[in-house]
Amino acid sequence: MSLIETRGLRKVFRQAVKDPGLSGAVKHLFTQRYKDKCAVEGIDLSIEEGESVAYVGPNGAGKSTTIKMLSGVLVPSDGEITVDGLVPYKQRMENAQRIGAVFGQRTQLWWDIPVRESLALLRDIYQVPTTVFKKNMDAFTELLGMEDYLHLSARKLSLGQRMRADLAAALLHDPKIVYLDEPTIGLDVAVKHRIRDFIKEMNREKGTTILLTTHDLGDIEDLCERLVIIDQGRIIYDGKLQEVKDAFAQERTLHIQLSSPLSDAESLFRDLPEVSVKRTNDGSEAAFSLSIRFNRFRSTASDIVKRVMSHAEVIDFRIDEPSIEEIIRRVYDGQLDAAELAAAGKGSA
Ligand SMILES: Nc1ncnc2c1ncn2[C@@H]1O[C@H](COP(=O)(O)OP(=O)(O)OP(=O)(O)O)[C@@H](O)[C@H]1O
Ligand SMILES: [Mg+2]
Repeated sequence: MSLIETRGLRKVFRQAVKDPGLSGAVKHLFTQRYKDKCAVEGIDLSIEEGESVAYVGPNGAGKSTTIKMLSGVLVPSDGEITVDGLVPYKQRMENAQRIGAVFGQRTQLWWDIPVRESLALLRDIYQVPTTVFKKNMDAFTELLGMEDYLHLSARKLSLGQRMRADLAAALLHDPKIVYLDEPTIGLDVAVKHRIRDFIKEMNREKGTTILLTTHDLGDIEDLCERLVIIDQGRIIYDGKLQEVKDAFAQERTLHIQLSSPLSDAESLFRDLPEVSVKRTNDGSEAAFSLSIRFNRFRSTASDIVKRVMSHAEVIDFRIDEPSIEEIIRRVYDGQLDAAELAAAGKGSA
């Protein structure tokens, strides 16, 4: 059995339906109406020990709901979950010993007591041995740069400081598994990198299994080899990050700077219908530039540059490939559908 396993996992929320305004609220008191919202719609997921998995999808896709069920906060409506042999919502305490969770949107620290005291309280709750506690405190303080604010209460921390303290709090008891729900939300670039390095280190050094939810796709590229995409409560892709890239990063864009304008550049590519040409004069010193999109399996960059060079003087050029960010945006926009994704890799759709 895998370390984390779910079969047919579902969660249905009962949402109140209210008419707007005060009269609506009053009416709701007497004639309550509800509708069922299926947030997670039959998820099969297997995660092995030591894996680092990105769990992504548009707003409302069901990511946080899944993580809450895995961590034992929510009871599933249907289906099965086992985490390290335990059923999280039934064996909450035992499960809590094995997992750490960071929800970027809220803190598990106590608002009014110094961070140092919060961490000491968690040590007692999780019964972390003194040696482990001391070793982790020293390491985390250093790696996350916490010494400046350990004496402050959570209330007084900046967002980036709080997130680092929360990460330390979640990892204090050396959990086997860490759920990170948007751990870098709203952070500046430097803190973001610090947090990513820290997570990477935990995964590498201690073999901690990581399930990460994020809207910052840089996090994914930095941390995860496996990508699970969820949409409307269902998994639409589950496979290697690299496979998605190989399959969908076929498009290349060649940016070419010319010494003088080239009229009718399109005519150079009449025999290559998939090539598209855009003028990108943006008022910079490169007054005459073209962006040419092509498919790397149908044309080559050198052929395209050659064609342009035969009609104009090329000063400079550079090739762009689509980032994972762009590919996933296309999935969210519905430009890449589940069938295409499934065909690309070992998609489970
Ligand atoms: N406690 C709740 N009661 C009713 N509906 C809920 C509750 N929690 C979540 N939902 C609904 O379930 C759906 C999934 O929510 P969830 O928070 O899992 O999304 P998400 O993928 O984490 O999105 P985001 O990227 O915005 O964080 C949403 O439509 C949401 O409104
Ligand atoms: Mg969420």
